[in-house]
This record gives sequence, structure tokens and C-alpha cells, in this order.
Amino acid sequence: MSAEPIEDIWVYERVPGDPWWRDAVVYQVYLRSFADGNGDGIGDFAGLRARLPYLAELGVDAVWVTPHYVSGGADGGYDVVDFTAVDPSYGTVEDVRLLVEDAHALGLRILLDIVPNHTSDQHAWFRKALEDPDSPEAGFYHFLPASSSPPNNWQSMFGGSAWSRTPDGRWYLHLFTPQQPDLNWDNPAVADAFDDVLRFWFDLGVDGFRVDVAYGLFKDPAYRDNPGTYSPTLFGHGPEQAMTTNQPRVHQIWRRWRAICDSYAGDRMLVGEVSLADLDEVGLYARPDELHHAFQFRLLKSDWDAGAFAFADTIDEALTAFEAVGAPAPWVLGNHDKARQVTRYGSEARARAAALLMLALPGSAYLYAGEELGLPEASVPDEARRDPIFFRSSGKRLGRDGCRIPMPWTASAPSTGFSGSLAAEPWLPIPAEWPDYAVDRQVADPGSTLSLYQQAIMLRALHPALGSGHAAVTQDGDVIRVDLVARHGDATPVTCWINMGEAPVVIPAERLLLSSSPETDAPNGGVLKLTPDTTVWITS
Ligand code: GLC
Ligand code: CA
Repeated sequence: MSAEPIEDIWVYERVPGDPWWRDAVVYQVYLRSFADGNGDGIGDFAGLRARLPYLAELGVDAVWVTPHYVSGGADGGYDVVDFTAVDPSYGTVEDVRLLVEDAHALGLRILLDIVPNHTSDQHAWFRKALEDPDSPEAGFYHFLPASSSPPNNWQSMFGGSAWSRTPDGRWYLHLFTPQQPDLNWDNPAVADAFDDVLRFWFDLGVDGFRVDVAYGLFKDPAYRDNPGTYSPTLFGHGPEQAMTTNQPRVHQIWRRWRAICDSYAGDRMLVGEVSLADLDEVGLYARPDELHHAFQFRLLKSDWDAGAFAFADTIDEALTAFEAVGAPAPWVLGNHDKARQVTRYGSEARARAAALLMLALPGSAYLYAGEELGLPEASVPDEARRDPIFFRSSGKRLGRDGCRIPMPWTASAPSTGFSGSLAAEPWLPIPAEWPDYAVDRQVADPGSTLSLYQQAIMLRALHPALGSGHAAVTQDGDVIRVDLVARHGDATPVTCWINMGEAPVVIPAERLLLSSSPETDAPNGGVLKLTPDTTVWITS
């Protein structure tokens, strides 16, 4: 990186009254794959606690931990058996309390992942409902009377019908695997039960929740067919799911949860998974009395394709949609459901450039563990695969295991240090090239992807035009330009440029703050050569 040394010291001041989450950098930990504290090959709370200093040093504000509950094991923990108990592979409730304590001591917040759309089929409610069709618990789910064919055309997101039969012939609804029966949120007892779950973890000190399938929960009460043809594209939710997602009644629940959040001290927050194609609809979930953040996945689903300007359009539309409701825009390029950026975009250089673009944008940025190491999507042998998507599609869809491989910490240690120095068999096989990406190699290298993330997050925290300013997006040929101005104070504006084309371009530049590429030369005579697949942050 050939950026000039930064001489002036910025005094970072948040906009007065801004809560911490408005422009937070949140780091998603895939608990099972982050760090194994006891050497059984499965990531756990002890491992995560030991690695908190790494996250503090990276500079993130908060850590979102994927589901840690006792689970049936059918969908990577998203099939919950007990919402107030910890899966013994991960630790205990006391470990969660200690995690929060350690995190707070380091200035980090902890978000848990809550799964209100469905339970595991092993959950006590569902077992009772199977046993006794007249039990109150049967009213917690969607059961329909026995008939020769499924009640309607609703499809599981993971393939096949969304209806399965009980042993006594009834149909029950599951938008995901048959082991994940959907809860019936029209039953007020369900909402009451979840209030208690939220309070249980808030009482323990957690700072908030990522809300799974927050655009789901309610279904068409008459169980009418979904219109049109269902598209098997994972999480590409449009009108073909009009009867199974985005029912207006769901907003009542977010108001209710927001009120619970607000009843606690210390700016607790909710971020919902809102996988809807229409960004204006997504924005509605982030109205001032609903969720604090509503994930939009358009950027995550955009290809590296400057011609189509998917990136520029998406950023512009998302900014407008969230501005309309006065909410910060949350940005995300990768998560545990999507192939890694390096592989999706075609190179580590592009993934680095995209990260720098995202980290400049106003709002919150969500990072997925391992993206700061430039990890590619791993190839997983079929016999080692765990994702139900692979099995339910008879192998036609590879599923999500390739982005869920254990983190490489120490190049020379067994399992690249995932289990410390212990030689444990990791729960998913670790590729032979993982040592190249190990944290201990990258911290020592100022040109590494880890160092780039660290510098970017630090500059973002220091400069009020980065990450929390006003942004104006323009495009010219294969180049996207984002002009960033602070919302408060008189900090110099920053311009973020990304070259998505194949040829270098010359851009106006006084001073280079940061470049995603080690090749970028310092500005000369008021211009800079922006090479392909590169993002720069420029100021005067
Ligand atoms: C969300 C999660 C995904 C899970 C699904 C069902 O989309 O991100 O991993 O499989 O919900 O809970
Ligand atoms: Ca373990």
C-alpha cells in the first residue's frame, strides 16, 4: 500500500446522540467453525472467548454469533430444540454470560441469533403436538387435515414441498427442512413465548439479536397457493412467495420486540434477515419503532459486473429506501448462506476492492468470519457435506458447507490452529491450502487482506465521512464513484472509487487514504492511475 502517511489527527466524534449501532461494523461468527476451545473439532464459546482480542484488534464494534442453542442438527443450528439452553458442544449458559462480560471489557457487543419462524421437530412443543392433535401445542404450528396431496403449492426453500405428513396423516408446514416445522404466529401464545426468550438473553446482558427469517413468521391465513412459478434461486424472494413471506402482520411483532429492547438499558438492538427483492419493502422493517437494521441482500447477490452496474444501482436504491424511513443501511457482502466473495467475484483482488467499497458506505457493515483473511469458497467432498440443501436437492445444489469451513489461525498447527495446538478432527475438512490464509501469517504482513481490513476499519472509525456520512453514487463506464461527506463537523470529504473494468483509468486525486491494491501509486500532479479490480479512498 503506497498511501501517504496521515499527518493530521482526526478527532473522531460521532454525530451527537447517535447510538452505537448506527454505523457499527459487525462481525459474524459461525460458532461451529470459529475456534475450538476443547479439542473436539467443534467451535465453541471457550474458543470464541479466547479469540475476542483478535476481534477487538480488527476493530469491529460487535460480534454476531450464529445459533448456539440445543438443536436437532438438521440445519446448522437453525432447528432449535430449546431457545433458552446452550448446545453442550458449545458450552453453557454461563459461558454466554462470560462471553458478554469479556466482550464488554474489550469494548465489543454481543448479538445472538434468534430463530422465530420455526422450531426443531425435536422441540417439546412439536413432540406434544404430534402426540396429541388437540393439545395447546398443536396450535403453535400449522397442521392441516389428512388428504391425498399437499394442501397447496408452497415450496420449501431447500427444495420439495413445504408440507410433510405426521405419522397420523396430518400435514404440517415447513418452509425449510421437514425437521423445521413453522410456528403459527397467529396464535398469541407463540408471541408470548418469544417475549420470554428475548428477556432471558437480554437479562444475561446480550446486546441484541440477529433475527432469522424476519420477513417470514406469518403466512396467508387461507393457505392460498403462491402465484407464479417458484424460482429455486436461494433467497431470491419475489412475488412468487407472496403467501408465505412478508405478511403485513409481521410488523406488529417487530414493534413488540422493539419495545422489549427499549425497556432495557444500553442501546440493545435487532437486525433482521429480510430477504425480499423489493428494497422499499425491506426498508419498512427498519421504521423507527421496528428493527434497528434490516438486512438487504441485493449487494450480496450482485455479480461483479460493471456493465450491468448492479453494484451502483443497488447502493443507490438501498440508500434511498433506508433514508425514506430514517434508518441506517446495513451492508453485507458475505455470510454463512452464500459462496465466499473471492470465489463469487473471481479473485481476491476483487473481494478486497468490494470490501473497501462497502466499508466506505454510510450505515452498518456486516463482515463474515474469514472474509478478512480472503478465504475462497472451499471444495468439500460429497461424503463430508452437512448442508441439508445438498441432500434435499439430491446433490443438484452444492449447499453452503464451502463457506462454513473452520477458520485458519496458525499456519503450522494441526488443523491450522482451529483446535489450538490439539490434533482434533475438524467437523468439516480443512483444505490443504488453508495455512496460506492463516491469521498468524497475515498479521505479520502489512500487505495482507487482514491488514487491509484492519486499516480500513480503523480509518472508518477515525474519519467521519467514512461509514457514517452522506453518500452520492455515480457511474462512468466501468468505474463507480461514491462521494462521502460527514454528517457532522467539518471533516474533509472522501471519495471512494472502484474500477470494475479491465483497463486502468485516470482519476482526479490529491491524497490517497487507502487502496485495496498494493500496486496503486501515490497521486501525481492531481491524478492517480486506478488499476482494474481496485478501490481507493481519496481525500484532499
Ligand atoms: C436463514 C439462515 C439460514 C437457515 C434458514 C432457516 O436464512 O440464514 O442459514 O438455513 O434461515 O433457519
Ligand atoms: Ca469444541
